[in-house]
Amino acid sequence: MSGPNDNYDPKQVAALAPEVIDGYVESALAAIAAANSTAELKQVRLDHAGDRSPLALANREIGALPPAARKEAGARVGAARGRVNHSLAARTEELAAAELEASLRAERVDMTLPVALAPRGALHPITTLIDEMCDVFVSMGWEVAEGPELEAEWYNFDALNLAPDHPARGEQDTLWVDPPSAGKLMRTQTSPVQIRSLLERGVPLYVVSPGKVFRADEYDATHLPVFHQLEGLVVDKGISMADLRGTLDHFARAMFGDVRTRMRPHYFPFTEPSAEVDVQCFVCHGESVGNPDAPCRTCRSEGWIEWGGCGVVNPRVLRAAGVDPDVYSGFAFGMGVDRTVMFRTGAPDLRDFVEGDVRFSHSLNGGAR
Ligand code: FA5
Ligand code: MG
Repeated sequence: MSGPNDNYDPKQVAALAPEVIDGYVESALAAIAAANSTAELKQVRLDHAGDRSPLALANREIGALPPAARKEAGARVGAARGRVNHSLAARTEELAAAELEASLRAERVDMTLPVALAPRGALHPITTLIDEMCDVFVSMGWEVAEGPELEAEWYNFDALNLAPDHPARGEQDTLWVDPPSAGKLMRTQTSPVQIRSLLERGVPLYVVSPGKVFRADEYDATHLPVFHQLEGLVVDKGISMADLRGTLDHFARAMFGDVRTRMRPHYFPFTEPSAEVDVQCFVCHGESVGNPDAPCRTCRSEGWIEWGGCGVVNPRVLRAAGVDPDVYSGFAFGMGVDRTVMFRTGAPDLRDFVEGDVRFSHSLNGGAR
């Protein structure tokens, strides 16, 4: 506030003199122009347009003027404040736009930059193959059945026509579960699911059953103590060995394309006649046979690798499951899933599938993660 204004002469109210007002405006405009950020401009606004700014204080002096002088002084101060406010608004807009632009530039994301490659988990090749195998049969209208891994001796052996003195029941192959008197074992094959499916679903029956099986077996390039089989069972009227042959040809083509397969007569207590199916060795293509200079550890220089067993269902098995063998007949097969993965990927050693070395899984995917 200025000093007393005895004679009401606006010229004597120093704060309202035009040159003083102009001075306030000029210093305000200079400060506005010098502000380099909206934060700085905020302070300039307080200093030059706030309640305690020289122009606001000058405005308060107007009331002390005689009424006749108030109009002119009011217009002068109003115009001065208007210029300052106008300039503040323009500078605010300018600085805010520049700041937005700068922050957009600083936060820019380059969508074309390659992302960091984090290793990702994936389903095990055995799991994906089991799905693919089941699809082959589901697309022909078959059902997928499952059975327990801890199995009763009756399903794994007796109902499948394996007499109590059959060598496969010996300690060598079968992992029995304590106490022995309970007749429980880790199933040695997926064939017990044949009996379970016949009893639960009845005939006609078209099922596949994938799963884990257990044997106190050797551990080498083509044998694991825990491995997987895919069982197949058809029981219907008029089923013959020819249906089996056609089904397995279709299955082999779906799995391996045009690889060579052969059927070899064999013995299984639950099929009659029985056969084993071999796939030509994908490592040596049979060339190691009789060639000691180039032995093949994958097929043990035999030229062929066994893929599975099969045959026409033994009438005794049908009878054990309450099906009349004079009306119904069937075929069954049990193929090694782990061996199928081997044939398809060219992996020469089954042990690599269970030893958990990630480099092996990557190599199966062609190095992709
Ligand atoms: C059986 O297990 C019969 N249950 C198959 C069958 C089913 C015959 C229905 C007739 C009718 P075998 O013991 O041969 O048969 O085993 C079948 C397949 O499992 C073999 O051909 C092989 O591919 C695979 N296999 C067997 N032992 C091992 C092992 N230790 N490691 C990996 N795969 C194996
Ligand atoms: Mg065999």
